[in-house]
This record gives sequence, structure tokens and C-alpha cells, in this order.
Amino acid sequence: MTTPPESLTIRRPDDWHLHFRDGDTMRAVVPYTARQCARAIVMPNLAPPVTTTALAAAYRDRINAAVPDGIEFTPLMTTYLTDETDAQDLAVGHGDGVLTAAKLYPAGATTNSAHGVTDVANIMGVLERMADIGMPLCVHGEVTTPDIDIFDREAVFIDRILQPLVDRLPTLKVIFEHITTMQAVSFVESAGPNVAATITPQHLHINRNDILVGGIRPHMYCLPVAKREQHRLALRGAATSGSPKYFLGTDSAPHHRHAKESDCGCAGIFNAPFALESYLQVFEDEGALPHFETFASLAGPAFYGLEPNEERVTLEKRPVEVPATIDGGEAEVVPFHAGETLNWQLVS
Ligand code: DOR
Ligand code: ZN
Repeated sequence: MTTPPESLTIRRPDDWHLHFRDGDTMRAVVPYTARQCARAIVMPNLAPPVTTTALAAAYRDRINAAVPDGIEFTPLMTTYLTDETDAQDLAVGHGDGVLTAAKLYPAGATTNSAHGVTDVANIMGVLERMADIGMPLCVHGEVTTPDIDIFDREAVFIDRILQPLVDRLPTLKVIFEHITTMQAVSFVESAGPNVAATITPQHLHINRNDILVGGIRPHMYCLPVAKREQHRLALRGAATSGSPKYFLGTDSAPHHRHAKESDCGCAGIFNAPFALESYLQVFEDEGALPHFETFASLAGPAFYGLEPNEERVTLEKRPVEVPATIDGGEAEVVPFHAGETLNWQLVS
């Protein structure tokens, strides 16, 4: 029998999906990600949303100004697709290196998605252009029609929207974001090399019982909502498999405590401060520590056509206590794993 390693050194990870917000909240949360990751794909669902190259460039500058001195961190910007998106602006932004990807929010799917796309047919010209220039599409994969149960919205999205889209534009690079179901895993497995998925820490740790049993836990609520245990197990299998089709995307989505603990609590889990620790616990539990670097640091850059980071980080098997609350700028935010002890700690 071999002794498990007490420390793990890997290339510096990236986060391929997160929310920084803006203003004081952004300035409070950016340092947590910059400490853990070298790059991050930044979601454009501000109010109003980041819909043009110029808005993305200005937002990038505000994020860069919030990165603590002495830390190397690069925000990778996205633009928010609407029924009116200008394909030329997108192509110029991508060519100039301002825009890394574009984001498809079905209208009404989640926080600040009211301006999203009402029908994928309305942006087919934009998507064709993206396929031509090799610009990846990030997808929030849920249908929004009221007749579809919230727990079925991802699986129905695959059948109605995603599979037909991938069949029609097989050269378009598609990131199926924050997947939550075994159907999503099957879809990604059967799709060609231009389809990949991100998986959040929370969807590897919690199922829907954790949100609802014994009382409603608003800090466990995000979209897509966590599903049954069989889905969580499928996601754990996928994330830890070593397949290059799955990579780290936290979907860290800070909402102030009062906005979560409310009559109509916001969707989103703030997991940035201990994201690597949270993921690594899953890889350890699954006996898959050797696959952690692929998931956290190699598969994402490979899919996006970027080089992996040269720097290394080290995690040690040392307990770390997650605080009950974290300063979120204007108000406090409750982090994922609040009050829990995690087994691993990022040390350098
Ligand atoms: O839970 C979520 N929160 N899911 C999303 O898709 C958006 C995010 C947010 O912006 O709060
Ligand atoms: Zn998100």
C-alpha cells in the first residue's frame, strides 16, 4: 500500500466561469480569485449587461485595478449575447484580444438575464461568425419556459437547443457551463471535440436535499439548481475522470447576505475564497488526485487554445476553517462551506 501524498504541486489553475460583479463588491472579491487562479473567464451579466467590446474593455480595466499589487492575474472577458448583438463588433473584439468568448443566456434563465437571447435562431448569424473565427461560446444551458419543471430545465435544453445547435454548427466551440445532470455528462461524452463542460464545486458536493431538508438553505441555492444524488455522482465521475472535456469553472456568484436571506433569495453561491480546497477534497475522496491538474490547470487552456500557466501552486493536506462570513464590499457575503473545515489548504 502506498501512502497518500501530503502535498500536491500543480500548474497554477484558471477559473473558466465566474462572476465578479462591479464597484465595491468587485473590489472585495477579485483578490480571492487572483490568489487562487492566474486567469478567469468573467461573466458579463452586470446591470446593465456587458454587451459590446467597448463595455468589456472598460470592465476589464476596472477588474485589473482591483487586483492586489504583486499578484499576476488576467481577466478573460466575455460579452453578453442579445437578440441584437452585432457580429462585427464581436469579431473585432475577439481579434483585438479584448473578448475571449461570448455568453449565451436564454432570456430569463438567471440573475440579470432579462436581456438574453429569446430564440437561438435570432443569433444564428452571430454564432456562424463565431464558428468561423474560432471564438468560443459559453452557454447557460437551461430552458426558461414556465411549463418545464426547474429540475428538468437543463436536460430539456440539451434536447431542444444544444444538440440541434451542435449538429448545425459542429465547428463552433461550445462550453456547456456549470453542468448539473447525468444527461449533461452523457451529452458531453457523446459530442465531438468542440464541446466541453465546466463543473462547479457545489455541484460536486451537494444535492437538492442539502438545499431543502431540515429547512431552506438559501446559501446552497444557485442556478442551475443542484439535482438528485445520482446526478451529483455522475458529475463527480466526470470531473475526476481525467477527461479533457471537463474543467474548473466555479460559477462563484457573490450576493450579499440580505439578498440571499430574503422572501425571494437570489441564486448564486460565493465559492471563490476556498475553491481549490473544495475541489481538491472531491478528487481526494474519489481517489483521483493525479487527475486534479488536468481538471484545474490543463484541460481549460487546451480547449480555449491557450498555453497552460508556467507557475506552480502547492496545496498541503492541512485543515483550514472556512469563515462564517466574508467582507463583500457593501455588505457581508456567506461563502460556500461557511463554518466547515476543509482538508487541504493552498499554501503557495
Ligand atoms: O446561481 C447563479 N448565479 N447562476 C447563474 O447563472 C448566475 C449567477 C449570478 O449571476 O448570480
Ligand atoms: Zn454563472
